[in-house]
Amino acid sequence: MASAPAKTIYIDEDVGKDDATATGSESSPYKSLVYAFLQHDPTTEGIQYLTRKSQTGPVGEGEDESVRLEWKPATKSAVKKATNLYEQRKKKAAKEQELAIREKQEAEKRRLVLEEAKKVVIKEDPSLPKPVRIRLDETDPAKIKLRTPDSDTPGTRVRVLGRVHRLRAQKDVIFITLTDGYGYLQCIFTGDLTKTYDAMTLTLETSIAIHGEMRAVPPKQHAPNDRELHADFFTVIGRAPGDKEAITNRVAPDADPQTLYDNRHLVLRGETASSVIKVRAAVLRAFRKTFEEHRMLEVTPPSMVQTQVEGGSTLFAFDYYGEKAYLTQSSQLYLETCLPSLGDVFCVCPSFRAEKSLTRRHLSEYTHVEAELDFITFSDLLDHLEDVICRVIDLTLAEPEIAGYIKKLNPDFKPPSRPFKRMKYSEAIEWLREHNIPNEEGNPHQFGDDIAEAAERKMTDMINQPIFLTHFPVEIKAFYMKKDPEDRRVTESVDVLMPGVGEIVGGSMRMDDWEELMGAYKKEGMNPDPYYWYTDQRKYGTSPHGGYGLGLERFLAWMCGRYTVRECCLYPRFTGRCTP
Ligand code: 4AD
Repeated sequence: MASAPAKTIYIDEDVGKDDATATGSESSPYKSLVYAFLQHDPTTEGIQYLTRKSQTGPVGEGEDESVRLEWKPATKSAVKKATNLYEQRKKKAAKEQELAIREKQEAEKRRLVLEEAKKVVIKEDPSLPKPVRIRLDETDPAKIKLRTPDSDTPGTRVRVLGRVHRLRAQKDVIFITLTDGYGYLQCIFTGDLTKTYDAMTLTLETSIAIHGEMRAVPPKQHAPNDRELHADFFTVIGRAPGDKEAITNRVAPDADPQTLYDNRHLVLRGETASSVIKVRAAVLRAFRKTFEEHRMLEVTPPSMVQTQVEGGSTLFAFDYYGEKAYLTQSSQLYLETCLPSLGDVFCVCPSFRAEKSLTRRHLSEYTHVEAELDFITFSDLLDHLEDVICRVIDLTLAEPEIAGYIKKLNPDFKPPSRPFKRMKYSEAIEWLREHNIPNEEGNPHQFGDDIAEAAERKMTDMINQPIFLTHFPVEIKAFYMKKDPEDRRVTESVDVLMPGVGEIVGGSMRMDDWEELMGAYKKEGMNPDPYYWYTDQRKYGTSPHGGYGLGLERFLAWMCGRYTVRECCLYPRFTGRCTP
């Protein structure tokens, strides 16, 4: 005779509960068998599990309600299924527990090690020579002597300040690549220096001062400038997080673009972003030097204006003490007013465009390099543009550090050969037709069509050299452009197109006849009143003159081989983004 069960556990699939409120008694059943197993070990001698079917749903015809509510021993298959699940969960729980214990032990071990490390205090040895403060790119051998592997002559003892850019800790040695915005220096910690609390908890981006001896790197090893600093003392100045807030988590290389734009301030600490910004500064230096060589004067026109230059559709408007004003689209009109008293002029100012489209070459705010030249012909303007572009490239590449960045960013970059290809708009239309590149409506290009970005880029990439695209039809160009005296359907205008980017410069000769300009305002439906100061140039000693505007970010995207202009400025502004 079977002995009476020592203990009975109740499971009701409908009203039972798999939580701490249930006890497994008949009045407080569990919901599932596996939960019951987890609470009451199924291997316990004499334990029995009674289950009953769910009460949910109406009682079927001819079905006896009392049968449905009857407690029955769990079926064999239900027990088998629950046992499997129970074993799996038990194993998982055991593993988790083991892991938690191990982690706790590790944490405790690390805590003790770090406690010990706090006792290791390093002091600067007063008998060592006073360190010389250097920036990390300094290499003057008169100031910084390197100890060579086979020499006893000590290297210069230096003090460097910067942030940990790379970090590799081995058993008794820590390798740090330090950066200070000027250069990179390999620093080596050994001995007690590696055993301090600060060294053991060092993280990327921590700011630090390091003192030590400069040595040449041993043969066959590599380090920036072939040298390394053997530290004898250091102090941490500002820590950086090493946990989930670590810089490598904030701006992981595979992060989505929006996260990278949100964290642009951290992205800028990377080598790629910072080298683009250094090239940008060098290109600006080169423009200024080139313009100076051409005896052109730098001026700074206002950004807040009440006139448009390149069409009303891309104006950013704002309230100016109750009057309507705009952020400037171009400083051209102001540059023109400078010619009589200042000679040829240029400016490097922000321009603003409320572009509706999100493309890789449009920004809402960009740096506009603009120039205006007096008493010239259209052909003079084109020659000048070619001179300036080539001189800027030469000057930029003449800086070895900058040439190095460009080589890294855009290994295939070659200065363009001269003369640049010159192509009339009408020839471009022919070329596009011959190469079956359709217009925006999908039809063959016609004279008068605006050459859209995609078609323009396709053509530039296929021709694969800089192009001066000239003589655009009057209808598709700005109101101020001078008509070609030989063909009044077209303007004396030029776009400079570069492979990979497309248009980087827009320029033209300017309408210099008062009456013609008044007619142009009228044709465009523009009120001439706010432009009186611009129109006056045609009244007080007019002259044949022209100029151009170059988008600095587009020039850089071309030179540095960047996919988008957004990578070529500090904090890009484009549709939907005005932060950080
Ligand atoms: O062709 P654009 O509109 O010409 C002018 O503004 C003339 N008023 C300039 C002048 O003659 N002084 O613009 C000139 C250049 C373009 O070729 C392009 O490189 C750049 O400015 N540009 C932009 N760059 C980035 N984002 C935008 N939204 C840009 N719009 C124009």
